[in-house]
Amino acid sequence: MRPIGVFDSGFGGLTVARAIMDQLPGEDMVYLGDTARAPYGTKSLPEVREYALECLDYLANQDVKALVIACNSASSAVLRDARERYDLPIIDVILPSARRAVKLSKSGRIGVVCTQATANSLSYDDAVAAVPDVELVTQPCPRFVEFVEAGVTSGAELLQTAQEYLLPLRAAAIDTLILGCTHYPLLSGVISYVMEDATLVSSAEECAKETYATLTDLALLNPSPDPTRRFLTTGAPALFETLGKRLLGGFVSQVEQVYTIS
Ligand code: DGL
Repeated sequence: MRPIGVFDSGFGGLTVARAIMDQLPGEDMVYLGDTARAPYGTKSLPEVREYALECLDYLANQDVKALVIACNSASSAVLRDARERYDLPIIDVILPSARRAVKLSKSGRIGVVCTQATANSLSYDDAVAAVPDVELVTQPCPRFVEFVEAGVTSGAELLQTAQEYLLPLRAAAIDTLILGCTHYPLLSGVISYVMEDATLVSSAEECAKETYATLTDLALLNPSPDPTRRFLTTGAPALFETLGKRLLGGFVSQVEQVYTIS
């Protein structure tokens, strides 16, 4: 009867929450966005680690049955620690996406777009290191998070930014592109437009599939006809609700503020 705990630095993890709701519509969920301290992607890995563990501790105390780290930057910084720290299944965004990209790629040339923190961690490089004949090209796209947080998912400025960021990936002739930040599925329109020959892999979608598989394997699924979903933020609840609704629709409501984290 326990909820799934989903954590992100802010709004991006809502793309994971939505994918989990699509695949597991009857499950209870509690979502925590650390919007007061977002973005994580511009911070150092030790700082991201500290914040992420505080948030995961908080969620683990909400009697959740699994923890989903719905943020690539946080997954990069704390995945190993989290697996040791909690006696709960831990689902991340990086390993499922890397696995899917390796399966999909025909040429072995795979791109990943992500935050600077994720790029610095080399977590995607580590994830594919053991796979022969795979070449990974990593491109940090820090301004993409700014566009999403401002509610901008189209327009001339975004298109020009995308063309500049994605030029090295086009030049590298990648055939598969991992959206290695949970904000980026909201920009998949512009990214597909610029990267028309590449197959996109959404870390949100792959993380939701991994959540489904993990809970199925551990016999932890418990669908109900009237699931409860709570949305918690360390920042302003009204802003979270407005932007959440604008980007992802009406399921983001009655957002609660949590004060006890930092
Ligand atoms: N959602 C985060 C990720 O997947 C990025 C947002 C941030 O920088 O906080 O990396």
